[in-house]
Amino acid sequence: MFLKKLSVIGFKNIGQAAMEFSSRINCFVGDNGAGKTNVVDAVHYLSMCKSAMTMTDSQSIRHGDEFFVLDGEYLSSAGRKEGIVCSFKRGSGKTLRRNGKEYDKLSDHIGLIPIVIVSPSDSFLVSDAADERRRYLNAFLSQLDKEYLSAIMRYNHVLGERNRLLKSSEGLPSVDLMEVLDMQLCSFGETVHRKRAALIERLAPLVAEYYRVLSDDREQISLQYQSEVTGRSFAEVLEAAREKDRINQFTTSGVHRDDMKMKIGGYPLRKYGSQGQQKSFLIALKLAQYTIVAEEKGEKPILLLDDLFDKLDLQRVEKLIGLVSQEDFGQIFITDCNKLRLEGILERSGQDYALFAVENGEVRAV
Ligand SMILES: Nc1ncnc2c1ncn2[C@@H]1O[C@H](COP(=O)(O)OP(=O)(O)O)[C@@H](O)[C@H]1O
Ligand SMILES: [Mg+2]
Repeated sequence: MFLKKLSVIGFKNIGQAAMEFSSRINCFVGDNGAGKTNVVDAVHYLSMCKSAMTMTDSQSIRHGDEFFVLDGEYLSSAGRKEGIVCSFKRGSGKTLRRNGKEYDKLSDHIGLIPIVIVSPSDSFLVSDAADERRRYLNAFLSQLDKEYLSAIMRYNHVLGERNRLLKSSEGLPSVDLMEVLDMQLCSFGETVHRKRAALIERLAPLVAEYYRVLSDDREQISLQYQSEVTGRSFAEVLEAAREKDRINQFTTSGVHRDDMKMKIGGYPLRKYGSQGQQKSFLIALKLAQYTIVAEEKGEKPILLLDDLFDKLDLQRVEKLIGLVSQEDFGQIFITDCNKLRLEGILERSGQDYALFAVENGEVRAV
């Protein structure tokens, strides 16, 4: 799938822009704060219905404006056209249209335009609490698997109800009501667990392989799923936590506490990995994600590489460009603040590319 044209109105600092893209490499250069990340985020927004920068929707509307509109024209590998228009207006919410027809649910759109982003904010995945990693897994799996998307949405809904019940009854809920909620939580939770476990099993060797290529075989890394539900049934987990749940007045155990353990040379990546190693790990993770999404969808995702040189030296950037220039990859968006540096790398790689200058929220093909 690739984005052929994009028009943007009122999105962050971009007042108005109309762009036509290459089906391969598109580069955005400009000073800090010019709006390069905002362009890439507009592309992300149109496929995931939300910003990649964890902002609320209204924060994406340009200051002083009332709405934004993103209008994209895509072409699938089979030559199918997809026109996607997303608009968001202060006070009245979001609408999303596919080929002129409004979606019933925004979630129906997720997965149509597969996308993978590498950005400086990925560092949350290493440094922050487990909920960042769960959010990542959820977004990843939701692009691939409608059944997962539905299970995780329903799990979170039941979890909220169960927590409210524990709270309102001060830890002594009606047994009947609790039983119903527990059954639902087990059913959705088992699905979530099974699909996360399968994904990480498939992901781990790919991450290790990409890391090996990016780092010239220097260190061994590993990725592991960690869940209270591994090796026991969800019902057992809930049963074992019943007393604790009563005392704390919320659900203390379940897949909402899952995590993903990342290690380098056998030690936790967060504590023992250098910034460059952490970044390389995250890029390996994203390229592995790319590979799986491409296989599952039979369609190459769009790859966003925001701030290409963030924490990487020239050598690793050249490695990365060499990797993503191969046939296995499709359309790519790259941002960098240094035009000459980026041009140099792409010239050496021998790849065709389109170049855009971004200045003060304005985008110009050069
Ligand atoms: N809702 C908004 N309205 C107007 N400007 C915004 C909005 N959100 C962010 N910006 C501006 O966008 C600029 C940052 O753009 P960004 O794409 O991150 O720059 P860079 O080119 O460095 O990637 C900042 O000047 C910021 O103030
Ligand atoms: Mg930026």
